[in-house]
Amino acid sequence: MLLMGLAVAANAAAADPAVLQYKVSGDAIATPLAAPGDALRGRDIVAGRDGNCLLCHAIPETGARFMGDIAPPLSGIGARLSAAQLRLRVVDQSRLNPDTVMPSYFKVDGLHRVAPAFRGKPILNAAQVEDVVAFLQTLK
Ligand code: HEC
Repeated sequence: MLLMGLAVAANAAAADPAVLQYKVSGDAIATPLAAPGDALRGRDIVAGRDGNCLLCHAIPETGARFMGDIAPPLSGIGARLSAAQLRLRVVDQSRLNPDTVMPSYFKVDGLHRVAPAFRGKPILNAAQVEDVVAFLQTLK
């Protein structure tokens, strides 16, 4: 997918292959990938080019004027899903729905159509994933 390729290329520099370990239990990743995230940084990632979440999701809390509607709006998601459940959805939504169009932000296996220099690098690093989870938790 073109979208995924672009996102991977834009953010590969932030990747830290040393922290690519996580354990999925049920529909969640219970153990944080890094130190507790920062919700304000998370909002910037979600609304900016690192995350590009608003291409598909409406999140009015970001204050953005233009938002996508091909994915469910994320208002209230912090009340419906736990931090552990949110973490898996950001890390690798394809674990829950193999046909999803949502990029796997912290998965490295199976991303074959990226330039060699960027192979094996996730879109977001571990700290950025935790920032995004922290922001999503504020959407109650
Ligand atoms: C290319 C489109 C696209 C992008 C970009 C995208 N998503 Fe998604 N996302 C989806 C779709 C579609 C779903 C619905 C579930 C599915 O397809 O499996 C979804 C589902 C979710 C869910 C679960 C929603 C629920 O109601 O259970 C969360 C949380 C989520 N996305 C967060 C994010 C975050 C955070 C970002 C940015 C870091 C992001 N998404 C970027 C398409 C996208």
